[in-house]
Amino acid sequence: MSKNIIIANWKMNLQPEEVKKLTSNIIKGIANNINESKKILCVPFLYIETAKKLINETKNVFVGAQNCNENKKGAFTGEISCEMLNSMGVKYVIIGHSERREYYYETDEIIEKKIFQLISNKMCPIFCCGETLEARENKSYFDYVDSQIDKSLFRLNSNQISKVIVAYEPIWAIGTGKVPQLKEIEEMHKFIRKKINNKYGKIISQNISILYGGSVNASNAKDIFNLPNVNGGLIGGASLNSNEFLGIVKELK
Ligand code: 13P
Repeated sequence: MSKNIIIANWKMNLQPEEVKKLTSNIIKGIANNINESKKILCVPFLYIETAKKLINETKNVFVGAQNCNENKKGAFTGEISCEMLNSMGVKYVIIGHSERREYYYETDEIIEKKIFQLISNKMCPIFCCGETLEARENKSYFDYVDSQIDKSLFRLNSNQISKVIVAYEPIWAIGTGKVPQLKEIEEMHKFIRKKINNKYGKIISQNISILYGGSVNASNAKDIFNLPNVNGGLIGGASLNSNEFLGIVKELK
């Protein structure tokens, strides 16, 4: 059975004092209402240590990062390696977010390299895929996601793919308040699971977590999380407010 997971993606937000307050409030809320779902806070690199200290030993809560470099080490000014993140106790890293694909020109090939780096450090990639508005409108969205998965994930072997968390984030739903219809979310998640099933078999496809991301909030989370092929969410804006985020967390058992 796929693990239920909620991931906060803080993106490039918050000052140190805000980080302390937000993390403490989230931890307090989760500690009062412990359930089996996994919660991962993907914070800016600079705040990993602070977040980790505040999370301390809270059950089912982990710190994550939002990016890593595709190379092992070397002359890559300003970059952060998987090894460095690993040594800070980070096990989960968001890879291939549409903002990185768009603003930093990350290709499917670079994303695949990052995934291999993470796997070789025994870390878990949170692999993002999802179509543009244009692909949604011209009805090529299945092909769009199909190609992203083929190019970045499908050279992993069975052991390696089992470490991956998939997040479907239609680009047009990110930060826009526009959410696909529930049946559209379910049909894409079902498509992704079936694709994984066809290549890696039933057990792996049933165990992989496929999360939805894009304008999730405390009011729409319940219906989204109740869809049969949705195993949780990747949350942007709503993860910057502890009440809103806790409202989402409580909808995933
Ligand atoms: P929003 O929840 O702000 O739409 O962002 C989603 C996202 O990009 C998470 O990675």
